Amino acid sequence: MNKATRKAVIAGNWKMNMTPSQAKETVEKTAALVKGKDGCDIVLCVPFVDIASAVEAAKGTNIKIGAQNVHFAESGAYTGEISASMLLETGVEYVIIGHSERRQYFGETDETVNQRTKAALTAGLTVILCVGEVLEERQSNITNEILSMQTKLALAGISTEDMKKVIIAYEPVWAIGTGLTATPQQADEACGLIRSVLADLYDETTAQSTTIQYGGSMNDGNAAELLAKVHVDGGLIGGASLVPEKFDAIVTAAQ
Ligand code: 13P
Repeated sequence: MNKATRKAVIAGNWKMNMTPSQAKETVEKTAALVKGKDGCDIVLCVPFVDIASAVEAAKGTNIKIGAQNVHFAESGAYTGEISASMLLETGVEYVIIGHSERRQYFGETDETVNQRTKAALTAGLTVILCVGEVLEERQSNITNEILSMQTKLALAGISTEDMKKVIIAYEPVWAIGTGLTATPQQADEACGLIRSVLADLYDETTAQSTTIQYGGSMNDGNAAELLAKVHVDGGLIGGASLVPEKFDAIVTAAQ
C-alpha cells in the first residue's frame, strides 16, 4: 500500500466556533459544494453542542461528523466531560485527540492522550491523533525526537488491528492559526518520520496503510502542493474549514 492506495482524509476542526443553527447552515452549504467528491473522506469535527444538528444536516451526504475531544472513562463523576459511548450514540464517527490546544491550554498529557485514544477505539470511533512540535523544538533540531516520542506514547498498548481506525495528524504548533505553513518538504519529512515510527512500532504494512494528515494553516491556496507530497494523506483544517468555499477547494485539491 502507498499514497496511491491510501484514501485521503480531509477533516475540518471547527474548534470553538459555530452555534447549533450556524452548524446546520454550514454543514448544509459545505455538503452542497463537496457533493460527489468521493476521492477523499470528508469529516467535520464540531463542538459537542453542535453534534446533533451537524449529524442531522450531514445525513445522506458524503460528510461525516467528528468531535474534538473525548474523556477516557466510560461514565462517572467527571463534571463537564463526554464519554466515547455518548459520542457514538449521537452519530459521531471520528474524534480528534491530543490537539495541541488541548495540550497547551487544558493540561492534556501524552498519558491522557493515550487513555483517550484507547477509550475511543474501544467504543468504535475513528481517532484523529494529533502530534506536533513547538517552534523552539524545531529550532533546536529535536522535531524528530518530539514526534517520535509523542507518537509512541499516544499509541502505547494499541494493537495493530486498532491502528486501522487511527489517523495521525502532524500539526506543527507554530503553524496553527498563525498563517505560517510548513513547507511541503517540511510536512512531508515530518509525516514520513511518523510513518517510520509506525513501521518500528508495528510493521511496514501498518505504516504504509495509516493515513497521516498535515494541519497548520492549510488553506485553498496551499493545499494542492502539500497534498501532493508522498507522505501527506490529507489535512486537518482549522480556520479554512469554517468557510464552505475554502474547505471545498481543499477537498477538490484532494481528489
Ligand atoms: P488552522 O488551520 O486554523 O491553522 O488550524 C489548524 C488546526 O489546528 C487544525 O486542527
